[in-house]
This record gives sequence, C-alpha cells and structure tokens, in this order.
Amino acid sequence: MKRFRPLTRRGFLIGASAAATIGAPALGQGHAMRRIAPNRASDAFTPDVELELICKRDETSILTGKATRVWRYVGNLIKGPPNAVTALPDAYLGPLLRFTKGQKVRIRLRNELPEETVTHWHGLHVPMLMDGHPTAAIDPGETYVYEFEIRNRAGMYFYHPHTHEKTATQVYRGLAGALMIEDEEERALGLPSGEFEIPLVIQDRSFDRDNQLAYGDDMHTSMFGFYGDRVLVNGRCNLTLDVASRAYRLRILNGSNARIYKLCWDDRTPLTVIGVDGGLLEKAETRPYVMLAPAERVDLIVDFSGRPQGAKLTMLSGEFYGLIPPMAQRMMGSDLAMGEEFPLFTARVTKTSTDSWKLPEKLSTIRRFRKDEIANLDDPIPIAITMARMAMFLNGRPYGHDDIQPRERIPVDTTQLIEIFHERGGMGMMGGGMMRGRMGGMGMGMGMMGMMSMAHPIHLHGQPFEIIERSFEGDEDAYASVRDGLIDSGLKDTVLVAPGERLRIVKPFGDFKGRFMYHCHNLEHEDAGMMREFSVE
Ligand code: C2O
Ligand code: CU
Repeated sequence: MKRFRPLTRRGFLIGASAAATIGAPALGQGHAMRRIAPNRASDAFTPDVELELICKRDETSILTGKATRVWRYVGNLIKGPPNAVTALPDAYLGPLLRFTKGQKVRIRLRNELPEETVTHWHGLHVPMLMDGHPTAAIDPGETYVYEFEIRNRAGMYFYHPHTHEKTATQVYRGLAGALMIEDEEERALGLPSGEFEIPLVIQDRSFDRDNQLAYGDDMHTSMFGFYGDRVLVNGRCNLTLDVASRAYRLRILNGSNARIYKLCWDDRTPLTVIGVDGGLLEKAETRPYVMLAPAERVDLIVDFSGRPQGAKLTMLSGEFYGLIPPMAQRMMGSDLAMGEEFPLFTARVTKTSTDSWKLPEKLSTIRRFRKDEIANLDDPIPIAITMARMAMFLNGRPYGHDDIQPRERIPVDTTQLIEIFHERGGMGMMGGGMMRGRMGGMGMGMGMMGMMSMAHPIHLHGQPFEIIERSFEGDEDAYASVRDGLIDSGLKDTVLVAPGERLRIVKPFGDFKGRFMYHCHNLEHEDAGMMREFSVE
C-alpha cells in the first residue's frame, strides 16, 4: 500500500498540514513565528575561517536515468585552511566542514530556496542567536551571518535546517551536512586520517517513477515519522568503498528523518567503537552491533588488514523489535520495514597495505561532574514524552515559543540532573501484543487513551551531556534485540529512549543565556510539536 506522493510544492504543503493535524487542537500551530532581524557580520569578530553556505535548489543523479531535484547546501571558502570546506561532488549532501577547537568561524548563510529557512549546528555549544533558533529564520534572498567560536571537543557534528514546522521536509529534500571538529587531544592519537577516515551519512528516501523524491504526506507519517524504501549512504544507493588492507576510521551519522539503524557487519565481526556524538570515548568498546537513531553519530575503527584482495565486508542494519509499533510500519507503506535486516554499504579490499596501526589503549579523558556540582539531584528536571493520537508533547505541552514553564527556567552556568521518560497513560511500555511480532495488532494499544509507545531520539541543544542511568521495564525479549547497541559511556547530545526506558542525564547548560531547544529528533515528531525550550537565565 503506497501512500507516497511526489514532493512537489503542493505535496510539501500537504505534508505540513498533515503534521499540523496531529497536534492542531492543542498546539496552536500554523501560526507565523516571531522573527528576529537577520544577524549581520560584526566588525568586532575576526574570523579564522569564513565561508559562504548557500541553500539552493539543484539536481543530482541518484538513481539511473533522470536526475533528482533536491535542495542542498553549497559551500564556498572565503578565508581559512582549504580543508575547511570539502564539496561532496556527486551527492546532494552539504559540504563536509572541518574546524578546529578554538577557531572563530563566520558562516554567511544565504537563502536561495523558495521558502524561509534557518540552520542549526547540531551538537555545537553556541549562543542562542547562532544556534539556528526558528525565530532566526530568513526569507528567500536574505543572508544570516553566523559567528561563533568552536568550543566543542573533537567530534562529528551535523548541520541542518531547524525551520518552524518545516524541518522534516527541508532535511528530506537534501539540506544536511556533516561537520568535523578537531582538537589537540585527538590529533595526538594519530587516528587513521585523510583517505583512511571516511564520513558516512545514512539517510532513507523514496522515489517516484520519475526518480523524484517522494514523501508520505499522510497522518501516519506525521505520527510515526517518514520511512523511505531505499537507504542512501552519502547520497548513494548501494555505496561501495574501495579500501586497502589496513585500519580505517568510519564516522557515521544517521541523517534520516525517523529511521533507526542497527549497525553490524555481515560476517558478525564485532564493531570497535571509539566515539559517539560528543567525541571520543575514554577507551574503545567492542559491541556486536550499535543502535543509531536519527542525529546520533558513532565513530568506528575497522581493520581490514589480513583480509585478501577482493574480500568484502558489508555493513547491515540488523533485526530488532519493539522500537516502533509493527503495524505502523505497514500502514506507512515502506518496503523497508524498520527492524528488518537490509544492507547499508560495502567495503571491498582492492589494495594491499603493510601499514600497521594499533589502537591506543586510552583515547581521551572525559571530565565527569561530581555530585556537588549537579543541581536538582533529588528532584530532576523532567522530560516526559507523550505520544498520542492528538498529542505530540514534551512535559505535557506542545512547542510554543515563549511558553517557558517554571522547571524550564535554568540558572546560567549550572549543571542539571534531567530525567527522560515516557508518560504512562495507556501503553507506557512495550506491551506484548502491541509491540511484538508482525502479527501484533496496534489497535489495542491505540485504543487505550490513544497513547502509543515508540522510541524517541531526544536531543538537547547546547553542551553535550552524560548518561548516568538507564532503566527499563517492559518486554525483555524485544529489549534484548537492542540493548547491547546502546552506548552510554561517552558524551551525547541525542539519546535514544526506547519504550519502557527511563534515563537520567547530567547536562551542563553553560554560560550562554537564552532559549535552547530540546526535542525529539524524529523530525516529523519535532515538527508536530514534540519540542520545548529551556530558558537559560
Ligand atoms: Cu539536530 Cu534541534 O536539532
Ligand atoms: Cu519522537
């Protein structure tokens, strides 16, 4: 049952109104967002790196035959080291940006799209006016100048639009890119670099018969998120990487709207994980598989040494259960059910190499907060997730700018204990019949108070956080198919919260005052209102 339609401007608007349908009664959505004036370049700011980033319509060849119309970021370096902006020629993805901790960066974002847009530097700790807040959106023809200092440690970050109620469709059309930050601590390790360091951005898409992007514009898409029937890696179907028989660093970003992957090698070689969202772990961890939800990143080392010429290793998304109601998958009409096994990309050994490299035992030092540095230790700030037929909420309320509630006011320069959990109205946990097996009916789950349960990748803007506790109550069998792929030892900015889970995180808010969003990074959920703001004051 296909419900996709070409992503024409009309389809786009229908998509947006479908999203509004879900939350409309309470959300007060569809209202124009208050705007601030576009920021101009400041004389007081001397950039080390300056670039122009143009958001524009373009076409690119993805499938054989007709080119696909996309929206994309195109970058031009104005000042700074040449590797600061690397175009990915054949992909719709934005250029790979590479900055160093401590650098001052100026980015002139020019909107050549037919509608408003704004860009968020996902994971970066920047002032509110530089954070891609929806009120900082610019109209077609306008330019917004972002100026900030890179304060984050080395890691892979993500830039994408954050436009009010249009984030999902703008990202879907192709507006997304990866951003690498380097620092001294990481450089000293001598990790595989240059051609041996490969950024991989995973996104799912659907195409119509004319090779154009198709988007589900129905109620189910806005309820559960968009799931395409093809997986693209770096904008390609069936990506094959030619590699040498030596160690590589794979830096993977899930840039999908809603799809969660379970990364594993087809020959069951364990994954060597060296980093996550907020940079390197203290020590590498070996996992049978890694769960990667939208906006999460994982940094892997894979060593092809000892593999003969012609050997192939394929990364799959493996089987799992319980993160989405199975019936939901069928209603959305994707051929690629979430939780079923399918290939992502293949590495093929085409060169022998004698380079030997050993993974250092110690990778980094993560400064952990002491108990006496953490506020609200016995009364954590809540992030309650509500997902029901007519309500996509956090803390019982939809997104509303200027709708700051008492517990969303955070004193500047504090570190807070936050608890993230599912609101338990009806089906708070993975219910047996609801979540398990393809025959499980969702009907009964939805019947009860309209509450539903699925996994939500929760993202908090600003500085990364530590996960200090993750507890689970629910269907142990389903949970067993994902549990070993959750990596909580590093610094995170986005965390997957599976049905039945309750998490405690320690989040530093830092010294920038203003409004910083927290939301579900299932982009359809975000646009439907599963977003709120902390006011740091
Ligand atoms: Cu990557 Cu607020 O988002
Ligand atoms: Cu969600």
